[in-house]
Amino acid sequence: MPAHPTYLITGATGGLGHAILTTLLASSVPPSAITATSTRASAASALSRLGVHFALLDYDEPATLDAAFAGVERLFFVSTNTFDNERRRRQHANVVEAAERARVGWVVYSSLAIGAVGVDGGEGAEEAHEGIYTDAFPVFLNWYPTDPNQTLFLPSNGAASFALREELGEATAKLLMRGGFENQIVALTGPRAVRFSEIVDVINETTGRKIRIEYVGDGEYVRRNVEGDEGGKGKDFYWNWVTLFQAFREGKMANVSTLMEELLGRRPKDGLEGVRGLLEKNKD
Ligand SMILES: NC(=O)c1ccc[n+]([C@@H]2O[C@H](COP(=O)([O-])OP(=O)(O)OC[C@H]3O[C@@H](n4cnc5c(N)ncnc54)[C@H](OP(=O)(O)O)[C@@H]3O)[C@@H](O)[C@H]2O)c1
Repeated sequence: MPAHPTYLITGATGGLGHAILTTLLASSVPPSAITATSTRASAASALSRLGVHFALLDYDEPATLDAAFAGVERLFFVSTNTFDNERRRRQHANVVEAAERARVGWVVYSSLAIGAVGVDGGEGAEEAHEGIYTDAFPVFLNWYPTDPNQTLFLPSNGAASFALREELGEATAKLLMRGGFENQIVALTGPRAVRFSEIVDVINETTGRKIRIEYVGDGEYVRRNVEGDEGGKGKDFYWNWVTLFQAFREGKMANVSTLMEELLGRRPKDGLEGVRGLLEKNKD
C-alpha cells in the first residue's frame, strides 16, 4: 500500500483542474501518485513536465476512462460545459460507471452552483457545488473593457457569493487530500455575497472608467445586449442568462458556506477583493 493515495484529476488543462494539481504538488503529494488528464494528446508534454502521469481521457469515450482509472484511489472530475444537457448527463454517467468498474475508492465531482437552481434543466441537481467564479465577472455583466463609458443593461442587481477559481481549486485539492466527506453534497463559496453594482464600483475605482448600470426588463435585457454585442452572442444565449439572473435576483447564488475558509485555513477573497486583484493585475 503506497504511503499516499493515488489521485486522478480530470480537466487538468483547465483553470480549476490546474489549480487542484498545483495545490496537490505544493502539498507534498508525490507527482508519481498523481495522474492528470486531457482529451488532447498535445497537453501531455506540459503536464508530464510537472512529473505527474498523463492519461488521454474523454468522458465521451468509456474505454479511455477504464484505461485511466485502473489503480486510482481518489478521482476528481469536473463538469463539462457543453450546453447539450443530455450529452453532459451521459458524459458524467460514463465517468461514474467507469469509476465503479475500476472500484475507485472516492469520487469527487464539481459543478457550477447554478446547475442546482435549474439553469441546466434542474433535474438531478449536481452532487457538489462550486461558487460562481469571480473571474467570470465580465461575462456576467457583459462588460467590454473597450468602452470606458459603457452602459451595462442588467435585469436585476443580484448578489452572489463569488469565489476566485484559483482559490476554489486550492480548496478542492485540500478537500481531496483530507477526505471525510463521503456521500455528501458540499458547497464551496466566497465569504459573503456581493452585488453587481458593487463590482461596477470597483471596476470604476480601480481602472478610472465610468461605466454604469441600467436595470431593464427581461426582454429589454436580451434586446439591448444582443444589439452590437462585441462577442456576437445571440438571443438564445441571453435568454438562458435571464434564467440565471432570475436565480441571482432570488438570492439563490448568495448562500455562504464556511467550508472553503476551513479548508484554505484563511478567509477566501470575496467578490470585490477578487475583482480588485484581477484588475490591478490587468485593468483591461
Ligand atoms: N463556477 C463558475 O462560475 C463556473 C463558470 C464557468 C464554468 N464552470 C464549470 O466548471 C467547469 C471547469 O471549470 P474550468 O474553469 O476548469 O474550465 P476550463 O478552464 O474551460 O476547463 C475545462 C476542462 O474540461 C476538460 N474537458 C472538456 N471536455 C471534456 C471531456 N469530454 N472529457 C474530459 N475532459 C473534458 C478540458 O480538457 P481538455 O481541453 O484538456 O481536453 C479542460 O481541462 C466547466 O466545465 C464548467 O462546467 C464553472
